[in-house]
Amino acid sequence: MKAGRTSRTAEAAAALRANHHQNSSNPVFSDPYAFDMTNARWRKLLSNPIFRKILNSTLLNQSLGRLAAQVVGRSRYTEDLLEQAIVKNQIQQYVLVGAGLDSFVLRLAEQYPQLKIFEVDHPDTQKIKIHKLKKLGTISSNVEFVSIDFEKEKLSDALLRSSFETTQPAFFSWLGTTHYLTPETTLATLQNITTITSPNSEIVMDYSIDYKELHGIERIGSFAIAQFTHFLKEPLMGAFESKNLHEAAENMGYIVLEDLSGTDITKRYFHKRSDHIRHTEATHLIHLQIA
Ligand SMILES: C[S@@+](CC[C@H](N)C(=O)[O-])C[C@H]1O[C@@H](n2cnc3c(N)ncnc32)[C@H](O)[C@@H]1O
Repeated sequence: MKAGRTSRTAEAAAALRANHHQNSSNPVFSDPYAFDMTNARWRKLLSNPIFRKILNSTLLNQSLGRLAAQVVGRSRYTEDLLEQAIVKNQIQQYVLVGAGLDSFVLRLAEQYPQLKIFEVDHPDTQKIKIHKLKKLGTISSNVEFVSIDFEKEKLSDALLRSSFETTQPAFFSWLGTTHYLTPETTLATLQNITTITSPNSEIVMDYSIDYKELHGIERIGSFAIAQFTHFLKEPLMGAFESKNLHEAAENMGYIVLEDLSGTDITKRYFHKRSDHIRHTEATHLIHLQIA
C-alpha cells in the first residue's frame, strides 16, 4: 500500500460493489453504502451514464464481470457463513481482517447487538473509513477498530490491544487481502490466529491461484489485474496451490471445511444470471475451522 492514503484496491472493490448494487437486476450481494464508501473519482465515473453502460455491457460482463463476481461473491459467501456461525454455533465475535471499505458495520451491526465486531486494517485505510462511516450513519457500540500493518505486526498483538476474547470462539473474514501479502505472511498470520482463538473458531478467506495454472481469458485477465494493482502501488504478491495451502492449514490445526474454486462459486451464486457474470477462476474461497 502507498503510505499515507487509503487502499486503492479497497476503493476499487467498493466501486464494484456499488455498481453491482445499482445496476444488477438480481444482486448476489447488496451493499447500499458502497457508492458513498468509494472515492470521489469512482463516484463520478459510476454516475456517468456512458461509463455505466460500458461497464455493464455484455463484453465487459464477460471479462471484468469475473472480477466483480469475485468481489461480491466473497462478501456473500462470508455473510452466509457468518449468519450460520451466529445462529447455529452461537459465535459472538466477528473479526474483519483487512476490512477495507466493507459496510457490514452500517448494514448489519445493529441486527446483531450481541456480536462484537472488530475491524482490523491498515491505519491509513481505517482513518478515512471511520470518517466516512460517521458521515453515513452511527457506528454501533459493538464495533471496535484495530489498526495493523501485517508486514510489521502480528494480528494477535493487534487484537490483544482490543477487547477481543481469546477464550471465546470467533469468526474471521479475510477477504481481498492475501493476494497483496507474501504467502509467508499469509501462512504466518493463519498460524498466529491459532494462538489467540479457541476451538470452533472459523475463518473465511480468498486466495489467488498461480496465474501459470490459468488458461485463456483467465490467464490474460489475471496478468492484466496484476499490472493494474502494480500501478495502484498494491502489487499482487501471494498465490497458492490449493493442495499446499490445505496441507499447511491442517498442520496448523485447522479443518478445511470447504474450498470453492471459481467454477464452484459460479455454480452456487452466479448460475444462469441474465447479466452472465461469473466468478473468475483466478481465486478460491476457503472456509477453515479451528479443531
Ligand atoms: C482489496 S482491499 C479488500 C477490502 C475488503 N476486505 C473487501 O473485500 O473489499 C485490501 C485490504 O487489505 C488491507 N491491507 C493491504 N496491505 C495491508 C497491510 N500490510 N497491513 C494491513 N492491511 C493491509 C488494505 O488496507 C485493504 O483494506
